Amino acid sequence: YRRGIFFIENVAVRNLARRFGTPLYIYSAGYIRDRISELFDAFAPVNPLICYSVKANGNLKVLRIIGKVGCGADVVSGGELAKAIKSGIPASRIVYAGVGKTHEEIISGIRAGIFLFTVESMEELVEINALARKFGRKTACSFRVNLNVDVDTHHYTRTAKAETKFGLPLKDMAALFQKRKKFTGIEFAGIQFHLGSQIKESAPYVEALRKLRRFLTSIRFSPRILDIGGGFGIPYMAGEKVESIFSFGEKICSIIKRDFNVEKVILEPGRFIVGNAGILVARIIYSKKTNSRNFLITDAAMNDLIRPSLYSSYHLILPEKFSSGRKCS
Ligand SMILES: Cc1ncc(COP(=O)(O)O)c(C=O)c1O
Repeated sequence: YRRGIFFIENVAVRNLARRFGTPLYIYSAGYIRDRISELFDAFAPVNPLICYSVKANGNLKVLRIIGKVGCGADVVSGGELAKAIKSGIPASRIVYAGVGKTHEEIISGIRAGIFLFTVESMEELVEINALARKFGRKTACSFRVNLNVDVDTHHYTRTAKAETKFGLPLKDMAALFQKRKKFTGIEFAGIQFHLGSQIKESAPYVEALRKLRRFLTSIRFSPRILDIGGGFGIPYMAGEKVESIFSFGEKICSIIKRDFNVEKVILEPGRFIVGNAGILVARIIYSKKTNSRNFLITDAAMNDLIRPSLYSSYHLILPEKFSSGRKCS
């Protein structure tokens, strides 16, 4: 706030609302760049490839900003792949994840020459292998392992428990690796895990890396790529405790340096980069009084901001202008 007026970077929010109308999303390019440079600094000891998770915000302008500062992209659909490429992110920095890649989507990834596919099932591997052979392109794959690690976050976004659809359980992964010679179209390049989202402490990553080390030794696989997914949490409320990204980086990098001899480390952050980078500006259009409550009706609704209804999550609401002496709740 400057003299009671809400600014984003150096621009008064009211000026943008007048110019573009409401409801209006406003994103700060500066904030996005700052988070990315923090990530590069925090994980500097392993010199990571940061593949921004496009599902967090697939706006083309946002993607362009992220691509320009050296990031790649983590995509989960043909649409996200097309957007990442359109916004200038080189295919060589794109990883393609997700449990439901279609025949056409796999072809589009192979044709684009993406860095790798993250494989989530044997069925999918059979399909990628067949298409890689058909197009005569040996295709690098990273294998998503389900390490059965629990994390303290919303139950919708815990993705590393055994009962979820994500990745391959250790037993199935071991069986798949025994058959690896059959898959002549595939380079068995890497290993991946993604533990969940809004993870506020580094302990689950430490646990996952320890489990993974033991598992890789047991199947005698030395990946050249290690992808630890995304999930780094952010504060949504004043005083909410989240371990700093530098502490995440220090703990994770020291284990990787000690226990993993890999060429490339990949991170797939989404929320950490964009979750607090934007605001939704809404206008109050009616003040509706009922016997039990007074309602302020705005021109933005859950279709514009689904997170509070989907996850029962807290969302901070601020007035565009603070008037002296009046309370806003
Ligand atoms: C495979 C994968 N990578 C990365 C992410 C990004 O997670 P976050 O936005 O919490 O960093 C997700 C989110 O669900 C994901 O499924």
